[in-house]
Amino acid sequence: MVEALKNINLEINIGSYCSIVGKSGSGKSSLLKIIGLLDFDYEGTYVLFDNQLRSNKDTVVSKHRRKIGFVFQDFQLINRYTVQKNLETASVIKLGYVDKERISEVLEEVEMSSKAESYPDELSGGQKQRISIARAMLAKPDLLIADEPTGAIDEENTENILELIDKLHKNTNTTIIIVTHDMDVAQRADRIIELRDGVISNDRVLL
Ligand SMILES: Nc1ncnc2c1ncn2[C@@H]1O[C@H](COP(=O)(O)OP(=O)(O)OP(=O)(O)O)[C@@H](O)[C@H]1O
Ligand SMILES: [Mg+2]
Repeated sequence: MVEALKNINLEINIGSYCSIVGKSGSGKSSLLKIIGLLDFDYEGTYVLFDNQLRSNKDTVVSKHRRKIGFVFQDFQLINRYTVQKNLETASVIKLGYVDKERISEVLEEVEMSSKAESYPDELSGGQKQRISIARAMLAKPDLLIADEPTGAIDEENTENILELIDKLHKNTNTTIIIVTHDMDVAQRADRIIELRDGVISNDRVLL
């Protein structure tokens, strides 16, 4: 068994914007998976929005997971579906039905309305990431979790994606947790947590 994280004692305020940095293998994704209710194989307790979740039933966990939006380095779009169908599928999972109005709203917010009928393969990396941000925003999450969201895109698109995340944070007070190895990306947050070998080695608030 790998001990990816050790003695993590972390409290993240609702409405804050945190970045998690650290070398490859330092435990960033492992921590994010626990925070995002994707991994329950850990010792200790995790409280999300006042709920201690691991001991709860799957239905409770899925209810909470619906309040979390995920963004990944590799976008994780379904390539055989159009953008619209990708969002419709996410809408069914998150909301239980296809909310066409909300889908067109989020597409507009990420300035991708004209690409609704395109397939992911017809989009640039930056555009794919905008779609995955639209997907994450769909159910108006309380928490947005992003693992290296700009890791696979160029500088110009990185700025664009970071602006979308800033906007989401400012306009809706969504809590943001972003994993990155890029200090320029990390600086956008109001707090930077640094991991080293599974331990928090630095934790600072930015003014
Ligand atoms: N599924 C797994 N099975 C076994 N060990 C794992 C697994 N996932 C991660 N690890 C180990 O846990 C440690 C932390 O990995 P993690 O993926 O959290 O690092 P990371 O900081 O996200 O790295 P990167 O920047 O490369 O994405 C590493 O030692 C890794 O080898
Ligand atoms: Mg990782």
